[in-house]
Amino acid sequence: MQASALVFSNALVILLIFSSCTSVHSDDNVHVSIKNRLGNGKNLTLHCQSKDTDLGEQNVADGSEYGWDFTPNVWGTTLYYCGMGWEEVQQYNYDAYSFQRDFVRCVSQCSWLISAEGIYGLNGNTGFWEFAYNWSS
Ligand SMILES: *[C@@H]1O[C@H](CO)[C@@H](O)[C@H](O)[C@H]1NC(C)=O
Repeated sequence: MQASALVFSNALVILLIFSSCTSVHSDDNVHVSIKNRLGNGKNLTLHCQSKDTDLGEQNVADGSEYGWDFTPNVWGTTLYYCGMGWEEVQQYNYDAYSFQRDFVRCVSQCSWLISAEGIYGLNGNTGFWEFAYNWSS
């Protein structure tokens, strides 16, 4: 292979790598999921919204999950808050995603488990589920 052809093919490889990286950034890059682990067939009602987006009232069956994707805004103010309820808890509000709280804790995958004792969140750095919120708090 001639030197000029080699330079060209290297440049092409670099260009392809660069363009695949930028396409990742332009897509939705955070996924939040909320899984119902209440047990005994208990339904969870869930209503999540941000300042601009209302995800609507959802019925999440025991063992199922509800999730959505988005790109945090460049100002670092993205916030999704949810109201939820089940048999024993009429209304509980919590932040399912707060950029300030989560941009290090769960970079791209923010998972929650809703259980009878409270809410567990997955810490993306440690890979551990952490007990985050008690129903009485
Ligand atoms: C859970 O929700 C489904 C779908 O709305 C409903 O058919 C079912 O009866 C509910 N189960 C309970 C235990 O309320």
